[in-house]
Parts: sequence; C-alpha cells; structure tokens
Amino acid sequence: MAAPALGPDSARRRAVLDRLRAIAGPDGFVPFDRFMEVALYAEGVGYYDRPRSPLGTDGDFYTAAHVDRIFAECVTARLGEIRRAAGDPGTFAIVELGPGDGTLAAGIVAALADDAGRWEYVLVDRSPARLRDASARLEGSAVGVRSVGSLSELGPFAGAVLADELLDAQPARRLRWDGSAWQELGVRVGADLVTPAEDGPARPVPFPALPTGVPVDQVVEVSPEAEGIVREVADHLAHGAALIIDYGLEESELVRGHPAGTLSAVRGHRSLPDPYADPGDADLSTFVNFSRIRAVARAGGLVELSFRRQADALGAWGLAARLERALAAAPDAATRVKRQLAAKNLLFGFEQFRVLELAPPSTAERLATPT
Ligand SMILES: C[S@@+](CC[C@H](N)C(=O)[O-])C[C@H]1O[C@@H](n2cnc3c(N)ncnc32)[C@H](O)[C@@H]1O
Repeated sequence: MAAPALGPDSARRRAVLDRLRAIAGPDGFVPFDRFMEVALYAEGVGYYDRPRSPLGTDGDFYTAAHVDRIFAECVTARLGEIRRAAGDPGTFAIVELGPGDGTLAAGIVAALADDAGRWEYVLVDRSPARLRDASARLEGSAVGVRSVGSLSELGPFAGAVLADELLDAQPARRLRWDGSAWQELGVRVGADLVTPAEDGPARPVPFPALPTGVPVDQVVEVSPEAEGIVREVADHLAHGAALIIDYGLEESELVRGHPAGTLSAVRGHRSLPDPYADPGDADLSTFVNFSRIRAVARAGGLVELSFRRQADALGAWGLAARLERALAAAPDAATRVKRQLAAKNLLFGFEQFRVLELAPPSTAERLATPT
C-alpha cells in the first residue's frame, strides 16, 4: 500500500519520521512494534503525547467511560467487592493504568463520594500530556489522588488495578506465516513517507509459542509491552485484583476471523484506509491477543477469576438495576431516552470487548467466581 507524500505543513509527521530514521536499520527497516512505539509515544510528538486529547466526542475515539457514567458506576460496584475480598483495609488503592483524559477516573471517584476517605486513586500514564489531563480532571476530588511513574513504585501493594483500553494501545509486533516460519513485519522509512515492509530480520517470540499450521500469509499481532504490563501486575499486586477491559479475542478466533491481522488507524471517529500515512497523527491499535495475555498472567501466578464479554461483566456488576434507578430519577423523557440508548450502546455496541479479572491467590479465594 503506497502512503501519500507528506504535505509541507506536516511538522509532527516530519518529527516522527526523524525519530524513526534514527532507529531504522541500514536499509531503512523498522519492526512494526518500534514504529508503533514512536508513532504513539515519542516524547512530545507521539500521538498520545500531543497537547490535544484524542479521547471523547471532540477527539478521535471514545471509550465505554465516555458513553455514560453508568459504566464507571458498574466498575465501582466491582471495586467494592474486590476491596472486601482483600480484607477491607483502611485505605484501598485504585490504580488506573492509562487513565487518558480521566473520564473513567472521574466517574469512579464520583461514585465513591459517600465513602471517599477509605479510597485512594493512583494514576499511571506513560504520556505526560494525558497524565496532566487526568490529574486536572480529579482536582478537588474527595478521594485522595496521586500519580506514580509505574506499578513498581508502589512496591507490593493491596489494591485494584484497572486498565480500560490500555492493552490495545501497546506497541505490537506483526508477524506473517510464510508456510514454514513467522516473518517479522515492519515499515521502511523513506525521505518523507513510511511504507509497509515484509523483509525484517527474524526475532524470537517470547513465551507462549505462536501457533503453526495456520494458513499461509496469516498475520498475527503480539505485544511484548502488553504482556509486560500483565507481568508487572503479577509481580506487584499482593492483595486485590486487576480488571482488564479491552477489545480482543482468543488467538484461535483472531486466526479464524482476521487473516490480515487487526491493525487499525483511527482519526475523527473514522477508520483510516492507510495506517502508515499519518504516524503521530492517528491512533493505531491492534486487538488484544487474550490467549497470550491469559497465559502470561497464569505464568506470573495470577488466578483468572473470569474472562467474559463486557456486556456480561456489566450485567454481573448490576447494570440493569442501576439503569432502572437512573431512569426513575431522570428529570425528563429526553434524558430517559438518552440514558437508555447509552446503556444499549454499552451492552451491544462494544461487542468485541472482553473483561479479564485476575487476582493473586490470597484474594482469589475470597472473590466469588462469577458464572
Ligand atoms: C486509549 S487510552 C485509555 C483511556 C481510558 N482508560 C478510558 O477508558 O477512557 C490509552 C491510555 O494509556 C496510556 N498508556 C499507554 N501505555 C501505557 C503504559 N505502559 N502505562 C501507563 N499508561 C499507558 C496512553 O498514554 C493513554 O492515555
């Protein structure tokens, strides 16, 4: 696929291209995960580190948290159960990885208002610009708020780790099965454009092994970064649980349903035809390979409490009763319709979303496993 030449005003893309050239091999090849890393996260120029937030109706995409506050309320109900299972300690930390613009955090903090003194909200976002947004959003909140650079700064901790649409935004490797081996895909960086490339040097894929016997030309994405995040949770979460909410599938479903992989580029709430055309200026994401994430979690000693569709998780966390109460309290018919439509969107519009609940053995025993 040919990418269009850069326009003269494309300062951001030019800066991203300069960073890519600096890490490219002698033939201009950059593995896809390194390309995605620079395009999304290069300090000051990467997509997520722009001054303007990419999230929400004025941005490029929205998450479940932006649809209706009932999403945050349902998550908060589950956080309360996790807290009780962890022994109801004096202060319990909610550690949100990748809070973005802070919409989910603000909804959770609002839902905790009556009990604010017993909670602490910890923000972890690798993008300084988004961390500023989320912190500003929580300013003046009754719940104590702080930010840390990474989970390891918390040491072994008791709390609930929350990651909504974090893993899909991690740099991912793309690999193509050539009939006998997995071939590393990437990009070639030219003078003023980036094009897809298929001739990268082979790199080993860490545990777990990739499938073989798939159709020739099958592409799969794996994200060592996303898997590293789960390993970090396993290493530092002593009591509590982690809620991972994201779009993704099991590896067998990805192979069956997505022969060309799941890479997508989005801007202004539209899917872009060429994911290579606007590095730094478009969101890039891939579906979470949940088979790998679950295997890494198990290998790290975490117990899987549940893995289910987002709609099923929201149902178990009390969406129906909450919606009924919200409708009864709505000031007018227009608000009622708006909230009903939002709930419908959360239940049926996020079809590919899954919720993975993980806990260290100490807490897992005390959290009822949902059916
Ligand atoms: C798609 S946004 C998620 C927004 C938010 N969770 C929500 O539900 O609306 C992804 C966020 O994750 C952040 N991020 C990416 N990698 C991260 C990492 N390794 N640790 C912490 N934050 C990260 C990005 O900077 C961005 O703010």
